[in-house]
Amino acid sequence: MQGHVKVSGAKNSALVIMAGTLLCSGDCHIRNVPLLADVERMGQVLSALGIRLTRNGDTLDINASEITTSKAPYELVTQLRASFFAIGPILARLGVAQMPLPGGCAIGARPVDLHVRGLQAMGAEVQIEHGICNAYVPGSSGRLKGAKIYLDSPSVGATETLMMAATLADGETIIENAAREPEVVDLANFCNAMGAKIQGAGTSTITIVGVPKLHSTEYNIIPDRIEAGTFLVAGAITRSEITLSSVCADHLFPVIAKLRDIGVRIIEEGSDCLRILPAESLKATDIETLPHPGFPTDMQAPFMALLTLAEGDSLINESVFENRLRHASELNRLGADIRVKGNAAFVRGVPMLSGAPVIGTDLRASAALVLAGLAAEGKTTFQGLHHLDRGYDRFDLKLQQLGARILRVSEASTNVELATSTNNSPASMTT
Ligand code: UD1
Repeated sequence: MQGHVKVSGAKNSALVIMAGTLLCSGDCHIRNVPLLADVERMGQVLSALGIRLTRNGDTLDINASEITTSKAPYELVTQLRASFFAIGPILARLGVAQMPLPGGCAIGARPVDLHVRGLQAMGAEVQIEHGICNAYVPGSSGRLKGAKIYLDSPSVGATETLMMAATLADGETIIENAAREPEVVDLANFCNAMGAKIQGAGTSTITIVGVPKLHSTEYNIIPDRIEAGTFLVAGAITRSEITLSSVCADHLFPVIAKLRDIGVRIIEEGSDCLRILPAESLKATDIETLPHPGFPTDMQAPFMALLTLAEGDSLINESVFENRLRHASELNRLGADIRVKGNAAFVRGVPMLSGAPVIGTDLRASAALVLAGLAAEGKTTFQGLHHLDRGYDRFDLKLQQLGARILRVSEASTNVELATSTNNSPASMTT
């Protein structure tokens, strides 16, 4: 493969910023919104709440001047965890919110206790009944109150829910042990562009002084660091030269550092461009996933794919989610040598992978299998396209543009076919 990839806007920023528009009674003009099934679903959640939204290319215009219901639809919230984060802005705007619990998912139980406890600290009454989280603010003002909140762990979603809720609360809120992810900073910048008073986003202590109202704004979403990281791994695993723009190299620091440990050469070109050069050899390394600025859990599966072809033994520890190593057995189908014990995976590098049918279990696991399929000898058939389409903006097309032989079998199907770069015949179509 060879060429240039245009990185899309960050999925996790786009989803939470869409929820954040519920705080504003005017127009929000959001640019650099990726084309993803999850974004579409989040749009459906907003529409169900009575919000008007229009998409024009990568721009979303959202007007939440009227929220017609405080109850979010069960079918949508259960499919998209980020939609639960809207409980913060709905409660802040209306003084009441009914949000179905997002439920568990393929990567772990993913509770929402930190969100709930934080809202309670801000004066909300919260009860969970029949799978619905019912929250309301007692008192005639209907306004949440500023509070000092300590998060037991630096949850991204809880930090975002509480930060949004606090923008319209009465008084000052301090969130201690807050998540420091770039998407939290992006949300804070967006809220501040609407007139919120948030300080300290990107550090462990965030201070929010509540204001009575937020106003219209225009906002550009940051580049998706996980999409960028995935394409860096695509370059590394296929020994290709790829340039990526626009990226924010600072957001990718732990990913770039690990790729360099593995022996991959990466050059920063200007402020928003990265070039990856074909590696001579790949070396084993150990990885532990951690909250930002540690190594991102969302890059764990793509790195596991890469390490299957590195010389030596690697140890991967998944510390953020309890069930996020299910791709290991699928990678083994492609000839990898991975043993899983609890939350650890021992990866013994093999000289080559060989194509096989594989099934994606979640979004990032699916990306990892596609990358492994690109490097494998022979044809890989991947099943689980709905996972990929949730979080990668036209992944197959971007890979095709780089010269990968990858074919979407049919829109209705959940299969993607891949041919390796070592096989000169194009992937055959089977539907
Ligand atoms: C977000 C990202 C997801 C990423 C994850 C960790 C979005 C839409 N998704 O998910 O892509 O993998 O951050 O970087 O932004 N936890 C609790 N109680 C809670 C909340 C979380 O115990 O109330 C636990 C979770 O089960 C998990 C850990 O905290 O083990 C981290 O989860 P969290 O940071 O909240 O992830 P999300 O915000 O769901």
